[in-house]
Amino acid sequence: MPTLQMPLNFSATETHCIDQLNRPLHDVRISLTDQCNFSCPHCKPTKQSQSLGKKKQLISFDEILRISKILIDLGVKKIRLTGGEPLLYKNLSFLIKQLKALGIEDLALTTNGYLLSDQAIQLKKSGLDRITVSLNSLDEKIYKKMTGGFGSPQNVLSGITSCEQAGFSSLKINVLVKKGMNESEIIPIVRYFRNTKHIVRFIEYMDVGTENNWSEKDVISSINILRKIHETFPVAPLEQNYRGEVARRYAYKNGKGEIGFISSISQPFCQDCNRLRLSSGGELYTCLFAENAFDLKKHLHKNNAELFKVLQNIWNKREDQYSEMRFCANNKNRNKIEMYRIGG
Ligand code: GTP
Ligand code: SF4
Ligand code: SF4
Repeated sequence: MPTLQMPLNFSATETHCIDQLNRPLHDVRISLTDQCNFSCPHCKPTKQSQSLGKKKQLISFDEILRISKILIDLGVKKIRLTGGEPLLYKNLSFLIKQLKALGIEDLALTTNGYLLSDQAIQLKKSGLDRITVSLNSLDEKIYKKMTGGFGSPQNVLSGITSCEQAGFSSLKINVLVKKGMNESEIIPIVRYFRNTKHIVRFIEYMDVGTENNWSEKDVISSINILRKIHETFPVAPLEQNYRGEVARRYAYKNGKGEIGFISSISQPFCQDCNRLRLSSGGELYTCLFAENAFDLKKHLHKNNAELFKVLQNIWNKREDQYSEMRFCANNKNRNKIEMYRIGG
């Protein structure tokens, strides 16, 4: 029976942008919009939150590029475009082209897959490196329960096929597992994607935001999901691809393919966390569970050298490690950012 592996440690000399816990800035997740064509109860349970989002002043296309360029100069190697739903962003193809032209090494996007069939070819042509798609169930009824009644598994599977045809050889398939909801789907999803190049990752249900009534009782820990899979399809642990990788990786012993586990509740990975988040409203978050944002819009009148210093300072002061301290008493009434505003 394999065990979940522990994360690796960083060296302080890797980059010039290090936080208080010796973690380099490596990834930026840019939420292009807080609008979404789904209304998943674990993320955006009320229609009210959607309309509130519309009133916010958004950062412009040029501002996204300017901030990205400075972040790349600060050592960022990966940008992930998120939402809400990033495929709703009007100038997405042009943005992807421009971000690649800035020299970002790894440009990825996380989507609910609803519009993927229509956009896969364009995304590939624009230069997007990787796509991650959410698919919590292959069963229509369960799927719809988890999206607020929107979309269908068939639609997402068609989107995945379109991506393969467009030239994305391997996608990541994110499966959020919630107790009493979709645990029956774990084995069918594993069976469906085993022996393909796509990597299924099971995500523990997290306490992101404050609107979803999260309870620890609804969490199925990764070790239990792993055990369930291992009984039917034996797996063995793999090394991490890079330091700070969120998922713990496993390969099938008999047969091709890989799976992963994202275990923020049972095995926090804050000690390697190298991710900064930028919201569509121009706020910077140094943690997915941050209470306070840094309003970057107030600094956009500054020149690039000054803005570089501002961003460097924010990262240098960072001390976040929420998941390691999730169950401390003073975290109980934390006013956290909602997931649809920050893209997970
Ligand atoms: P790659 O490793 O580049 O493929 O992507 P990723 O796993 O970083 O990105 P993805 O959007 O697929 O992340 C998967 C899920 O992991 C997210 O939806 C979040 O639920 C969770 N996640 C990502 N980053 C963090 C983080 O910094 N903290 C916590 N607690 N969860 C995270
Ligand atoms: Fe669901 Fe993702 Fe949209 Fe949130 S952003 S409502 S999780 S599809
Ligand atoms: Fe990073 Fe915060 Fe997630 Fe910890 S809880 S891994 S510090 S984003």
